[in-house]
Amino acid sequence: MSTSLVCIDCGAEYRPADIWQCECGGLLEVRLDHINISVRELDKRAAARGFPYDSGVWLFKELVHKSIPNKCIVSRWEGNTRLYSHTKTSEYAGIKNLYMKHEGENPTGSFKDRGMTVGVSEAVRIGAKIVCCASTGNTSASLASYAALAGLKAVVFIPSGEIAYGKLAQTIAYGAKVVQVKGNFDDSMRLIQEAASSLKMYILNSVNPWRIEGQKSITFELIQQMKWDSPDWIVLPAGNLGNTAAMGKALSELKEFGLIEKMPRIAAIQSEGAAPFYKLWKSGLHELVRVDNPDTIASAIKIGNPVSWKKAIKAIKMTNGVVEKVSDNQILDAKAMIDSSGIGCEPASAASLAGAKKLRKNGVIKEGQNVVCILTGNILKDPITTVGYHTNELKKIRPAFMNPPIEVDGDIDKIKKALES
Ligand code: F0G
Repeated sequence: MSTSLVCIDCGAEYRPADIWQCECGGLLEVRLDHINISVRELDKRAAARGFPYDSGVWLFKELVHKSIPNKCIVSRWEGNTRLYSHTKTSEYAGIKNLYMKHEGENPTGSFKDRGMTVGVSEAVRIGAKIVCCASTGNTSASLASYAALAGLKAVVFIPSGEIAYGKLAQTIAYGAKVVQVKGNFDDSMRLIQEAASSLKMYILNSVNPWRIEGQKSITFELIQQMKWDSPDWIVLPAGNLGNTAAMGKALSELKEFGLIEKMPRIAAIQSEGAAPFYKLWKSGLHELVRVDNPDTIASAIKIGNPVSWKKAIKAIKMTNGVVEKVSDNQILDAKAMIDSSGIGCEPASAASLAGAKKLRKNGVIKEGQNVVCILTGNILKDPITTVGYHTNELKKIRPAFMNPPIEVDGDIDKIKKALES
């Protein structure tokens, strides 16, 4: 018996087919049949490995896409990302038990690979020829890579001039057809949904429920790394809200299938200039009010009309979670802390540490609680912002932790003098 897709709006149920959206236009969600898998079995599997369990996504196959034949799986050994801690970041946030799970260690440098391996594998299973997405850069890089591996055509819509260079470079280099849309991410997202149906392209944004299924594995792997003892908090940056939705779904399934006892609380962090989800949560509204001109230096989360807000609000409510917002300056100072502790991440990722610090300061995170921040992307994704911070060339940012390079004549005495000063 295969898993079914259920509409979160009208409740219509579909058996897996080549659809990503309900006939009513609502978002679909994968409903798992009861899973009979134990913690012991998963730990045994992690130790033994072998295809497809080498992947930190497919290790949890029953929980991400139980019925897909192994021959359809397109995998780059994604996941298997490390959990770090460092006194510098702990002291900065005022949280003793602070961990960072580094999703930038995925094959294309972001957490998107976890959803993409499942999405592209499903595209192969249903015989799709062209896959597509709109993106602020990481989804497009990931889609381009996995599509190339599978021999599928990839088409991506990106907001013109608004995505970090590392991500643009990856997407072009992996061979995707890049359409630079004159407008913002929300325009690209709207247009790709229109184009997907008329051009027979299989959409692999997180509106596709299989992307969410793969992204759940961040949570599965994290909890396994913590020896199945949940942390008190999981803090993550929030943009289009697929990841927040996936985390909520993962936690609810872990609880339902008896793999965890304690439910961690989710803290979703938005950037001040792109915070429609924060406003929704804070004001107790029932409908998201979109932000028309989102603005943040963390280009990955520069999103005013997040598609997965309904699933994400369910995740926050279910985990007794919170939504917080932080400024661009707080994001980049937190990033400087993560970077100079030797771990490093892209700007949006650091919203998690900035958010954890704020929540601790406000007393929402209590003394002694265990906190895991998800670092969603690699330090090399956005070098222009990183160098701009350290050379104080960013508008409206006052860097607290600058480390500018020094320029010296090619003369050893002058170099010594400069180093001594
Ligand atoms: N962090 C990074 C590095 C991202 O690339 C994204 C989203 C997020 C956080 C937010 O995750 O959208 O699931 O809430 N990037 C998407 C993209 C939008 O196109 O790459 P979310």
